[in-house]
Amino acid sequence: MRRYAAAMTDPVLTDAWWREAVFYQIYPRSFADANGDGVGDLEGIRSHLVDLVELGVDALWLSPFYRSPMADFGYDISDHCDVDPIFGDLAAFDALLAEAHGLGLRVVIDWVPNHTSDQHPWFLDAASSRHSARRDWYVWRDGPTDGAPPNNWVAAFDLTAPAWSRDPRTEQWYLHLFDPAQPDLNWDEPAVVEAMHDVLRFWLDRGVDGFRADVLHTIGKSPELPDDPPEVAGIPHCALNDVPVTHDRVRAIRSLIDSYGDDRVLVGEIYLTTTEAIASYYGEGDEVHLAFNFPALYAPWSAERWRSSIAETEATLGARGAWPTWVLSNHDNPRHRTRYDEAAARRGEDTDTRARRSEARARTAAVLLLTLRGTPFLYQGEELGLTDAPIPPESALDPGGRDGCRAPLPWDASPGHGWPSGANGPWLPLPPDSEIRHRAAQQDDPGSILHLYRRLLRLRRSTPALRRGDLELLDAPDGVLALRRSLDGEIRIVLINTTDLGVDLPSALAPVGWQVLLASDDPEPPAAVPLRLGPDQALILGP
Ligand code: NOJ
Repeated sequence: MRRYAAAMTDPVLTDAWWREAVFYQIYPRSFADANGDGVGDLEGIRSHLVDLVELGVDALWLSPFYRSPMADFGYDISDHCDVDPIFGDLAAFDALLAEAHGLGLRVVIDWVPNHTSDQHPWFLDAASSRHSARRDWYVWRDGPTDGAPPNNWVAAFDLTAPAWSRDPRTEQWYLHLFDPAQPDLNWDEPAVVEAMHDVLRFWLDRGVDGFRADVLHTIGKSPELPDDPPEVAGIPHCALNDVPVTHDRVRAIRSLIDSYGDDRVLVGEIYLTTTEAIASYYGEGDEVHLAFNFPALYAPWSAERWRSSIAETEATLGARGAWPTWVLSNHDNPRHRTRYDEAAARRGEDTDTRARRSEARARTAAVLLLTLRGTPFLYQGEELGLTDAPIPPESALDPGGRDGCRAPLPWDASPGHGWPSGANGPWLPLPPDSEIRHRAAQQDDPGSILHLYRRLLRLRRSTPALRRGDLELLDAPDGVLALRRSLDGEIRIVLINTTDLGVDLPSALAPVGWQVLLASDDPEPPAAVPLRLGPDQALILGP
């Protein structure tokens, strides 16, 4: 048995709202479309806030809604301090924020510090001449004489492409860790730091509760921009960039945010490959408050792999007194239900078995996500058990091939399920099974996965041990993950069967006289703790 407990002693931080909150990520283009143009908008989000309150989440993270040419669907920003007309306007944002706050929901927004759009006035100015006053706001280099780029860094999205593009007008290369339409800002330039801090101030003054900072670890670069070593050739540089100066910059960002009081949060997207590297961006409690834990997102659906991922996360973050986060899906990766289905197909699981197990696996994963020690992030639509929309290559829109997980949410039984239907349909096709899996249908069905998420969120909210208790990994039969959460004498045991076979429970995992408080597969499970855990079943037990 391994036991993990909160190590942080600072009373301000141990009480912080974001430690006990459940976040819900909204990808605005695909959440809800109020004006019927096929693209989701801020008014669509506002009109569904009550549904999110009913679901039981505490905080929203909104992916970018700023002015953008949409080369990376909003992560290429041309005006950080305005709303793109496709999503609404600043008044719509203010109305959304006020209504969310009125309903008790916190709102965290995306802040994209590493790059802008190539249509941002800063870049247009910088690219206009080598002598532009803003030339140094971006990273320009001469290449070697053979016409090759300045170094071997690879851009994200197209792994065959350099992270550099040559600007014919001024005959220099500019750096872009992502799409060529997303030139990297040069954070060595003090005016860039000030301008990007001003963006934070603009939204903090408007009342947002914090930021999810996009690829925050990339705002510092080695001054010599050295080649990546040959053994990591082909890995995008954004997943490798990890230099000490970034920590100073993150500390400055954190102190700006702290100057607005102690209840705003900085969530870092630290897109590095190890939990250890990610954990370093918590600093000494003076960098990010929270960082996404991507190695756990990529863990396959196996009790053993999750056990080691949890143990590693707890040990690594615990050593720093840092608070974990947990996420299974987001707008950059196939949804977890799709990933687990595809992995099962690769293992040779037949189609019928996969069809039978698919939702059951998603349900057990929900129980895990919402009973771990740390802050969970849900991605819109996972509460409906959505899978990715299949997008044929000729219809792909996203340069990074991520359209499938961004398919619009099906809301109701109308022909477009809440989106325009026919020739002017939504910007991406709806996900599979939208006609039976839409929210209204699930709302009417107490056995739906939507109701499972609601029950889970209600139970978590009413159970301090699940929100902030210690966590122990218990010895369990093969294929079963068993957690014990405890706080001030309140104890819960969580059992997760990741296999397709029933498993006899040892007495330590089925204490006599205890009750089933929640089952992944039954809204009204028998109260008595069973002797056997069903296939792909998860249970939460309490005395
Ligand atoms: C990470 C974001 O999550 C992703 O969607 C985006 O494409 C890149 N950063 C670049 O901003």
